[in-house]
Amino acid sequence: MDTRIITDLNEESLSTLGTMIRAGALVAFPTETVYGLGANALDPEAAKKIYAAKGRPSDNPLIIHLAEVADAALYCEVPPLYKKLADAFLPGPLTVIMKKKPIVPDEVTAGLDTVAVRVPSHPMARALIRAAGVPVAAPSANLSGRPSTTCAAHVIADLYGRIDAIVDGGESEIGLESTIIRLDGERVTVLRPGGITKEMLCDLCGEENVSLGASVTEQFIGSDVPMAPGMKYKHYAPRSQVVLLEGEDDAFVSFTAKKKGCGVLCYDGQAERIRAARPAEDEAIIKTFGRQERREEQAHGLFAMLRAFDDEDFTGTVYAPMPEKDGIGLAVFNRLIKAAGFHVVKL
Ligand code: TXA
Ligand code: MG
Repeated sequence: MDTRIITDLNEESLSTLGTMIRAGALVAFPTETVYGLGANALDPEAAKKIYAAKGRPSDNPLIIHLAEVADAALYCEVPPLYKKLADAFLPGPLTVIMKKKPIVPDEVTAGLDTVAVRVPSHPMARALIRAAGVPVAAPSANLSGRPSTTCAAHVIADLYGRIDAIVDGGESEIGLESTIIRLDGERVTVLRPGGITKEMLCDLCGEENVSLGASVTEQFIGSDVPMAPGMKYKHYAPRSQVVLLEGEDDAFVSFTAKKKGCGVLCYDGQAERIRAARPAEDEAIIKTFGRQERREEQAHGLFAMLRAFDDEDFTGTVYAPMPEKDGIGLAVFNRLIKAAGFHVVKL
């Protein structure tokens, strides 16, 4: 399949892409979180094409993307709490699970009676959804099992030739997927942490009303029923084995300095110290993903760095620090511990 790359969204290209989406095409597009692989959410055949292009198990439901907050009522039963959350956080990196209306095909929700709804803030995403005139079902635009894509080059690496078009909107600002929540009356359960943090939800809804789903911090055990089906898969997996090291900064530096031929994913400032402490002849691949105290820099850089190890065909062990779990750090922790398959070593 020929994949068109579009760098300029103007009236003409938007109209073409809108027509393509309505007709069942697959179009990758930028959002403020990660790139999405979009298709007409009202077309069961288009949803099936998404699963095929990604190599994604079809029991893993898709998020539907809307241009306007108010459109949610067309596709699901909207509880009062949704409006309060939307006033505070939408458009933005928050996905809300709600009871679906029959118009949403089972292929999109993988047979669930709920649907995940998101109103992205990225202007190109909103323009594209408006041009399509239909809700846009979109998982992250990566091959299943690979890190989500945060720029067009990553989408091209995974999906070129498998999809109809890629809209290039530069780098995704946040770099990790949206926060996913479930609502029960006044209560909010975080199924996947992201840019709308637990602290932000607590400020709005009251600490007593916000909890973390087990899938945020714990490993999926075969017999459990996951609340967000996608959380059970070993996600964001680079080709190398990732191991998280829990301990002080100095202990991280001295541990990684002693490991022969390893990979290191570390904070800015640690790389120089690790290199200085290593024997000159033993080359390690050392990459940084932001300053230790700046969780948003780590979120922004994480997936690109995991991909960079793959691009160098590195298949050894990559050591990374256990992230701090406050703010968007919780999302960084959640993605890294999954990339590591829950492999943690205490220093
Ligand atoms: O930031 C994002 O959310 C990105 C961009 C493209 O918007 N999208 C994204 O989609 O991350 P995806 O498909 O990679 O992740 C969606 C997650 C999966 O873990 C899936 O199981 C869960 O949402 N999910 C979708 N519908 C659900 C539902 N009805 N109930 C529970 N979980 C659901
Ligand atoms: Mg994904």
